[in-house]
Amino acid sequence: MPVSLTTLRDLKQRGEKFAMITCYDAIFAQAMNQSGVECLLIGDSLGMVLQGHDSTLPVSMADMVYHTHCVARGNSQSFIVADMPFMSYATVNDALKNAGDLMQAGAHAVKLEGGGWLADTVTQMARCGIPACVHMGLTPQSVNVFGGYKVQGRSAEAAAKMVEDARRLEQAGAALLLLECVPTPVAKQVTEAVGIPVIGIGAGPHCDGQVLVLHDLLGMYQGKPARFAKNYLQGRDSVKDALTAYVQEVKSGAYPAPEHGFSQ
Ligand code: KIV
Ligand code: NA
Repeated sequence: MPVSLTTLRDLKQRGEKFAMITCYDAIFAQAMNQSGVECLLIGDSLGMVLQGHDSTLPVSMADMVYHTHCVARGNSQSFIVADMPFMSYATVNDALKNAGDLMQAGAHAVKLEGGGWLADTVTQMARCGIPACVHMGLTPQSVNVFGGYKVQGRSAEAAAKMVEDARRLEQAGAALLLLECVPTPVAKQVTEAVGIPVIGIGAGPHCDGQVLVLHDLLGMYQGKPARFAKNYLQGRDSVKDALTAYVQEVKSGAYPAPEHGFSQ
C-alpha cells in the first residue's frame, strides 16, 4: 500500500521513525521506492544541487512543477512532498494557486517555509484538499534575512516561540512540520508538543522522521559538508545499497547520531 498521511500519523503514534529523501527525477524515485523510504521531497535544494545556484531563491514554480512531474512518474509507493519556491506563497491567493499546480503535477502535499504567520494559508489549503508541511527553524529562503545559514531557536525565547508556532500551525490544519538546524532539545519539545508528524534535518534524533538531501547521502557535497550530512555510499558499492542503509539507520535510530545535531 502506498504511504499516506495516515501511515505517517500511525508511525508517530507507535513511536516508529520514518525516512524522507530529496528526489528530483523518475529513476531515483523508483530506486527510493525499493529502499522502503516513506517520503520523497522535491526540494527547492534543486536550485543548488541541480542548477548550481548558491541559494534556493532563483528556483521558479515552473522548475518545481517540472521536477514534481518527473518524480511522480517514477513513484508508486512513497508519499510525495513538493516545495513551494521563494515568493510563491507570499499571499494566500498565490499560495493556493501555486500549491494547486504542484498537487496537479503529482504531489501529495506541499511544503512552505515560515512559522505561525502561515496559519491562514495552511487553513485555506486544507479546506481545498492540500496538505501542508511547514518548514521551520533554518528556512533557507530567508537566508538574506538571517544573514547566513545559522542554527535557529537557540535562545529560550526563540525556542518557546517555535513550540507556540508549532501548536498554532497544528490547530490551523498543518499536516506535517519540518525542523531544520534546530537544537536537539528544542526539536524534542516541538515534536512532543504536537500530534502531527515532525520531520527533522540537523534537529536531533527525537523527531518522528528524518530527511536528507540525496547528494549529501551519496557523499556529493558542495564544499564543506553540513554537520548532519552522512555519506552512505562509503563502504557500499551501489546507490541502491546506500539508500537502503540510510532508511534502515533512520528506522533503527542509528541516524542521526549525537554529532549530527546541535546543542542549545
Ligand atoms: O529543499 C530541500 O532539500 C529541503 C530539505 C533540506 C528539507 O527543504
Ligand atoms: Na527546501
